[in-house]
Amino acid sequence: MKSFVSHKARSVPPSGIRKFFDIIATMNDVISLGIGEPDFTTPMHIRQAGIRSLEQGFTSYTSNAGMLELRQALAEHLDRLYGVQYDPEGELLITVGVSEALTDALIATIDPGDEVIVPEPCFVSYQPGVIFAGGTPVAVPTYAANDFQLTANDLRAAITPRTKALLLGYPNNPTGAVMTRERLLEIAALAEEHDLLVFSDEIYDRLVYGIEHTCFASLPGTMPRTVLLGGFSKAYAMTGWRVGYVAAPRDIAGAIYKVHQYAIMCAPTPSQYAALEALRHGEPDVQAMRAQYDRRRRVLVDGLNDIGLTCFEPRGAFYAFPSIAASGLPCEEFSERLLFEEKVAVVPGTAFGSCGDGHVRCCYATSLEQIEEALERMRRFARRWG
Ligand SMILES: Cc1ncc(COP(=O)(O)O)c(C=O)c1O
Repeated sequence: MKSFVSHKARSVPPSGIRKFFDIIATMNDVISLGIGEPDFTTPMHIRQAGIRSLEQGFTSYTSNAGMLELRQALAEHLDRLYGVQYDPEGELLITVGVSEALTDALIATIDPGDEVIVPEPCFVSYQPGVIFAGGTPVAVPTYAANDFQLTANDLRAAITPRTKALLLGYPNNPTGAVMTRERLLEIAALAEEHDLLVFSDEIYDRLVYGIEHTCFASLPGTMPRTVLLGGFSKAYAMTGWRVGYVAAPRDIAGAIYKVHQYAIMCAPTPSQYAALEALRHGEPDVQAMRAQYDRRRRVLVDGLNDIGLTCFEPRGAFYAFPSIAASGLPCEEFSERLLFEEKVAVVPGTAFGSCGDGHVRCCYATSLEQIEEALERMRRFARRWG
């Protein structure tokens, strides 16, 4: 019998992260700096809003675009934070996380043969998302020497007549890099010069430390070519609720809406009530969690540098991306040995693109005690390199 699996599905490798977590699941006493999700439980008042919606019997579909009340609250939220104005009726769409938002946005805009530039290292879903949409991902490496920011020169070098779009993911998973406004302005100028569409995944927008997050759509002239992707998973510790959003110019938002409508119908109703509560009353929670992440970030980064795993200062998300050059090990072997010998889970940098080689991702969305214990174990591991 012939294979019924599509060329697209075959051409995408399984996630490099999953393989690792399958091993971890079989082990005891592992400290995980591996999984990229908040260790906090969703704040109680947000959970209660979801529960209340169920008790009141709100168990039907909502409007396909998401509850109008939620879209209105979101429009106000984006205006308040970034001064960007989106019409809740036609320019905002509530999705099943940024995961769905990104998939829909790519399907709605990318045609076969279109190239999408993807700065690496990056979130594991970007390249597969482009391929599933029928496009061709073009990786552009970023480097520790530039604090893992995309440079205009590197972007320019990757643009061809087939380039349709650029997929930005800052604050970045896995590096923790944040693009400065100056660098984003350079990127925006190139996008205009070459008439590129820009997907901007800003799921970590609220998790920045001692630095401002610049919303790409807030830069002069960028809004008509920007698809802003955001969500509730990280800032409000709501990964399991599965709520995100797309904000885009009306014609693009309309096309994304079509994909969403036929594939998904609407985001889960109780989750939308919870998200509404998060927008209305969740700000103190965001700030409290961010303060905790910041404390952990400093302990982890100082500790890694002290061990000799040199680490540029990550200013966003909840990841550090140290160089493991001092160990002399390839990153997969480093991660496997650290796991088996010291029971600390980190993710090899190559899971996020080949330029992640020589690094590992350490997530600090875990308790300070766990981070300190992980550092102790890594210190012991480091003594065996020499
Ligand atoms: C950069 C980035 N984008 C998107 C997602 C997916 O987020 P969501 O839970 O909203 O689907 C993640 C999750 O780890 C991420 O790191």
